[in-house]
Amino acid sequence: MSKERTSNKKSREEYRLRTRLIHGTFASGRWDYGHHVVPPQSSSATYRLSSVHRGAQGFIEFATPESRRAPIYIYDRLDEPSRGMLEENLAVAEGGEVAVTFATGMAAVSAALGILAAAGDQIVAHHILYGCTHSLMTSWLPRYKVRTDFCDLCHPESLAKIATKDCRVVYFETPVNPTMELIDMAAVRRVVDRLNEGRPEAERILIVVDNTFATPYCQRPLAHGVDLVVHSLTKDICGFGTEMGGAVIGANRFFNHLMLYRKDFGGVLSPKNAWPILVYGLPTLATRMVNQQKTAMHVADFLTHQPKVARVLYPGLPNFPQHDLARRQMTTPDGQFAPGSMIYFDLKGGDGSIESARQAAERFVDHIAEKAYTITLAVSLGQIKTLIENPFSMTHASVPDEEKIRSGLQPGGIRLSLGLEDWHDIIADLENALEVI
Ligand SMILES: Cc1ncc(COP(=O)(O)O)c(C=O)c1O
Repeated sequence: MSKERTSNKKSREEYRLRTRLIHGTFASGRWDYGHHVVPPQSSSATYRLSSVHRGAQGFIEFATPESRRAPIYIYDRLDEPSRGMLEENLAVAEGGEVAVTFATGMAAVSAALGILAAAGDQIVAHHILYGCTHSLMTSWLPRYKVRTDFCDLCHPESLAKIATKDCRVVYFETPVNPTMELIDMAAVRRVVDRLNEGRPEAERILIVVDNTFATPYCQRPLAHGVDLVVHSLTKDICGFGTEMGGAVIGANRFFNHLMLYRKDFGGVLSPKNAWPILVYGLPTLATRMVNQQKTAMHVADFLTHQPKVARVLYPGLPNFPQHDLARRQMTTPDGQFAPGSMIYFDLKGGDGSIESARQAAERFVDHIAEKAYTITLAVSLGQIKTLIENPFSMTHASVPDEEKIRSGLQPGGIRLSLGLEDWHDIIADLENALEVI
């Protein structure tokens, strides 16, 4: 195993995140970085053990602090090097002590909730969530007697009204997928601290935030008082649209439960998927986000000036309703404002009705699907290619219609995930599509 390379001026922690995402932990107990510039891709379902004693030791140490330092590899589903190195670097990115990866973002969401909530417990969640997360909470968790109550966490005090003594988890995305509302994490922390007063440790409420929309380059929820961060690695962290993955990141005390949950429920990230995220995705995250964000700003500004567009929600716009919160919460580790690369906007319908807005959005998106070069009609987000979709009928189809409309998610709303194309070209394709409605 490699020796830690040291610099006589700086410790690794003092380098900026952009640099650290490229070089990662550098000296990993999991691979010999002393010889490789790029870690080889590991691919071994099971591992040769030199003795029964070592095998037994591996089982004893699994999911303990010892196994984090120098794991005894036994079987891919338990632990393996490519995934482990990615986890070390994801923890660095989010400023967490540990990261545990999963096969998809949904497997990560399930694991975070799975280790924190048991039969009889309550989860309180923001009323708009990624559709499958909503469906997990309303279709599946109730079968295990875990119930979820929804409220508007943009008003953190609403949590105090709805949380019962059985509440164990507060769950939300910020920015919210797809409406781009922001939830004030420090304010939620204050309400949760108040509710936790006098509760024994095992009955305390923990805060889980899905940071997929912002990415760790633009926002680090743990620094705002959140307990666990979840990610769909499928999005900006992979960045190229080639792999699926998920991660849960937080303090050491969650490591054992997350690893045991993953071992037994089995939703491991394949090393073949972990490797491109480790080698291409995470190291280029900062560079991609800087450029995608610049493009998002240009495109949001363009949309704001279009008479056929009713409203544009992008945290970078000075008229964004929560612009002050955005500036406080969405920053790079160097303190620069980082509003991300996602935009949500509504088109106007001819007669001002919701139905005519829906029809306008459909004509607009269909025109893009057929004619645009730079924008692709597809779900998912956070890729080098710009993607567009209609969340009401697609990604958020499983959220009840009344709930969506009440929460500002209109049938005619459009979600745009900006990629790395030249922004002039993206605007030209949007301009063409606006002409047909
Ligand atoms: C905010 C958010 N969280 C979680 C997920 C689920 O991720 P995955 O598709 O990797 O399971 C998605 C997917 O679109 C998402 O947008």
